[in-house]
This record gives sequence, structure tokens and C-alpha cells, in this order.
Amino acid sequence: LLHVQFYCTCNLMCKIAIITSSGYAKMLGNRLKIRVLSDETINKIAAGEVIENPASVVKELVENAIDAGASEIRVEMRGGGLQLIRVADNGSGMNQDEALLCWERHATSKIRSAEDLLRLQTMGFRGEALASIASISKVTLLTSQGDIGTKIEIEGGRLLQTVSAARARGTTIEVRSLFYNIPARKKFQKSAAITGAEIRRAVAMISLAYPEIAFSLFDGEREALSLLPSQSFLHRASDVLGEDFCKNTHPLQSEQFQGFVGHALQNRSNRSGQYLFINRRFLTSSSISYAVKDGFATRIAETRFPIYLLFLTLSPESFDVNVHPQKKEVRFQDEMALKQKIREAVRQALNEQSVTYTPQFTFFPNEEMGTISPCEKIDFPRLLMKEPVLFEEKPHFFGLFCHYLLLEEEGKLALVDLVAARARIAFEQMTQENEKVQKQGLLFPITFELGALEAREVLALLELLDEIGIAIRPFGDNAFIVDALIPFIEEASIPQVIVEMIHELEGFALEEKRRESARILSSKLQHGKKSFVLQEAIALYEALKKIPSHAFCPRGKKTIIRLDSHDIKKRLFEKA
Ligand SMILES: Nc1ncnc2c1ncn2[C@@H]1O[C@H](COP(=O)(O)OP(=O)(O)OP(=O)(O)O)[C@@H](O)[C@H]1O
Ligand SMILES: [Mg+2]
Repeated sequence: LLHVQFYCTCNLMCKIAIITSSGYAKMLGNRLKIRVLSDETINKIAAGEVIENPASVVKELVENAIDAGASEIRVEMRGGGLQLIRVADNGSGMNQDEALLCWERHATSKIRSAEDLLRLQTMGFRGEALASIASISKVTLLTSQGDIGTKIEIEGGRLLQTVSAARARGTTIEVRSLFYNIPARKKFQKSAAITGAEIRRAVAMISLAYPEIAFSLFDGEREALSLLPSQSFLHRASDVLGEDFCKNTHPLQSEQFQGFVGHALQNRSNRSGQYLFINRRFLTSSSISYAVKDGFATRIAETRFPIYLLFLTLSPESFDVNVHPQKKEVRFQDEMALKQKIREAVRQALNEQSVTYTPQFTFFPNEEMGTISPCEKIDFPRLLMKEPVLFEEKPHFFGLFCHYLLLEEEGKLALVDLVAARARIAFEQMTQENEKVQKQGLLFPITFELGALEAREVLALLELLDEIGIAIRPFGDNAFIVDALIPFIEEASIPQVIVEMIHELEGFALEEKRRESARILSSKLQHGKKSFVLQEAIALYEALKKIPSHAFCPRGKKTIIRLDSHDIKKRLFEKA
């Protein structure tokens, strides 16, 4: 209950002391337009800010488990988290009183006063998450400190029962029927496939900063993520983001900055490859993103974004996470100085490696080609070609190796990546004004269903999809059928590619949408068939030749590399 002492003084003559605000409101009956909201309503409103989707629930519960000192966290979901989310940890657990108190708004064990916010060592501090979650779902808590455990059931913020129950030390929180009592919010949730993917991403992001904790994620019975404890950030990053993401990168090594920036060729068209952690908290910050990009200077094109995994360690008082309801953004005390330091750290990291990466020409940037050992200094100016390289009139073709065409060009040995070339050519066709890409009819048309919102977005894109090579039409309520496709695309991936497109295209102007969707679709061609006959390969090479800026595929990977005898000699003299 609110205990508000409210004094109203009128001309010093009348003085009314009202003990509770609700009492005051009652006394004045319905004459007042302004009312104090009930706790239940207050919690639901706060939940609207803290809990945006099922992934926010998972984030809050996993963060609580980390704060409780867990070394093992298991997450389960059903129906993309809307049906069920269960998070179990082996952390400190709670005694019965704490187990009851933790559901109260502003109940927290993590801070005692506002000053503690300046010394924050925990992920949580507001005491809002559990109250918010409980007000909009059906919750069961099972917790124990190693002795008698407690089981509590809450529905829509109302306590249903408390009983003693057995459990090893730790806590399990089960959240069922999320948003069941706020239909408007429920209606705007994305499909289970997407909310499930958001949960996977949420767990993956948190896990990157806590390699010493074992994480597992189950989607129904299926294990979607399984991470063993490790002492190294890099190890965990490679498990979560993939080896390719972490390969050939430039490490950042200082007390304040850890992690790495990718090499210039790993750039992307958006910020999807940028992972920032401050004091082990996953955050987004456009100013840090700009600072890293500045560190790359002219190494990458203006419209592209470098990839990075950056762990900053800052003193808690030098930044504020209390500026965003889900703690996803930060404000810095001295942003200018921090940006300057990051720029410098990135610049140094890029310079320390002797391998010179440029978007135009790189020695051996490609994974398949191996890398040059970092201690070797090589003088590259001759190789750094700024202009697109012109093809020779009559090249001499040597043959094929894997999916590379080998030929002699301008006295150099050239290797054409045929898969990348195919994607580049397709991209060019897809973006030609007033032209449609050639499609192949499918023996078995693909049908799929989407959420109402996504379906609406796809309906608006039917013509564009047809132009870039996906013949698609509506097929009943929120369902679609695809009966012809651009060749070399994996048919089963089409529904997912379309969903990815509608999300990526958000915010793009109409004229940019075609280019962007072409980039997404053509980059999927890289997964298509990888065996070629010589004639086919030569035809691809000839087609590539006609494109003015043919040096890169739509993903920014090179389509062709050239080695002269000097380069080959270098390789031969390289120590084993
Ligand atoms: N898994 C857990 N193990 C042990 N104690 C927990 C666990 N989850 C929550 N608690 C206790 O319940 C309290 C309330 O949790 P809640 O997430 O609502 O708030 P918070 O973590 O303190 O702050 P925030 O709202 O910023 O997350 C915590 O402060 C903690 O003491
Ligand atoms: Mg919390």
C-alpha cells in the first residue's frame, strides 16, 4: 500500500492530512479526473517497457541466474517462448521469505541506495524484472538454498500458492502463457519461429560475455544451443559466432579493451556483425560503432560496416545503463575521450598485423588460401590496386580446381571464384531496371504460412520478389506459394530468406529495397552447387567480365585474385 502523507493548505485556514492516496480518491468520489493507478495496472505498464517480447523474459531470467552466481544455466522454450519459458540455474537460490519478496516491484538484493548505482557489479539493479514478468504471465518458482526449497505459483501478478518443495541448490522459474492478459501486446508478437530465434540470439549474446558458465537452450525437445564452460572469450566466440567470424581478425589487447575487429574484407552492409559488451553487458551504441569504423579509416567503403567483438571494461561510474528500460543502451560520462581511445586501439590493432587488407586487393585474405604469419613485413604497394582491374582480351585458361577457374591474365595467375562470380552476376541481373530475372519452374512448389504482420509485408513485396527471381503469390490466409525460382538457390531455405528480407528491408526507401533484397538473395546463391565444367566456368568468367565493378561478390568477398611470380616466390620462401 502507498503511504502518502498529503497536506493541502488553503489560505492557511484548512489543513487536511490524508493518509493514503486511495483513501483521498475515495473521499472525493468520482469528482476527480486524476486517479492513482492500482499496483496491478502499474506493474502491467512497467512490464510493457521491460518485457517487449519472449526474448526479454529470457534475458532477465538469465541475468538473474548470472547474478546468483550460477555456473550452469539451462533455458527451455516452447512455442517461441509464448507458450513456455523455463530457466533453471545452480546459483545461490532463495529462502522462503526472499522467494515471496522477489515478486514485489522495487524489491532487489542488488542495491541499497542510489549511490550503489555508481558501483554496480551486477546485471540487475531495479528490482523490476520479476514483478513485470509475473504481472503478464503465469509463473512458477522453485528455489532452494540447498535445504528445504520453496515453490510459488503466481498468475497475472496474484499469488496462488506457496508450498515447501524439494530442489537442489538453485532456482527454476517457469513462465507460461506470456501476455495472456494483454491481448493487444500478444497480437503484435511475431511468429513463433522469429520469437524463438530472438531467444536463441538473446542467450547467445549473454553467453559470449560469460564463457565460464555452461549454457544450454532447448526448443521443445530439440537442443538448440549447448555451450560448455571455457576460460577463453575467443573459444566461446568461436562456438557461438562461428569459426569464420573469428578467423583472420585483429585482436585488441589492452586492459580496457579486449576482443577483436574483423579484417576489412569481412565488412557487412549493416551492423549485424558488431558485438559490444561493457562490463560484460551486451549493449548497442552507435557512437562506439562509429569510433571503430573511424579506426578503419579508408580501409572499408563508407557504406559498409566492420565486424567486431568488443569487450570494454569501464569503471561503473563512467557510464549509465539506467537510460533504457531494457538496459540495451548506455550513456557515457566522457564519450569523446572514450571514442578517441577506441579509434586509437582499432588503428593499432590493424597496424600491428603485417597483413595489409584493402577492399581492392589482398594478398591471402581468404581462409582457403591460408594467411601470412603476423611477424612478417611485406611491401605491398604494387599489389594495392585502387581501380577495378581490366581483363585481358584473350586470356589463357588452365582449367578448374575445386570451384576456381585458373587462367593467365596480364602475366599473372588469376583464380576466379566461380561461386562468388555466379552470385555477382545474379546480383547484377536482379538490380537491372525494368528487367526480370530468369526463373526455373519448380517440380514441387513451396508453400508456407507466415504471421499476419509478416504476411502483410510480403503482400507488399510480391512484385519486387518476382523481379529478383522468386515467383510468389498468395495462397489463402497468410499463406503463400512459390512455383518458380532463380536457379542455384536452396529451395527449402526460401521461406526463411523471405522472412529475413522483410526484416532487413525495414526502413529502406522503395528504390533501395530492390538492391538490398537482391543482395540478400544473391548471397544465398553461394550455397548452391559448387561443381562446374570448364565451358560453364568460362561462360561465367565472360559474363563477369562485362560487369564494370566485378571485383567483389554481393557479400563483399573477392570474385578473383591474381598472383604474379613475385607473390608465388614469396609463398615458396615462406618458412614451413
Ligand atoms: N535466479 C535467481 N537466483 C537467486 N535469486 C534471484 C534469482 N532471480 C531473482 N532473484 C532475486 O530476486 C530479486 C528480484 O529480481 P529482479 O530480476 O526482479 O530484480 P533485480 O535483478 O534485482 O533487478 P532488475 O529489475 O534490474 O533485473 C533479485 O534482486 C534477487 O535477489
Ligand atoms: Mg533481474
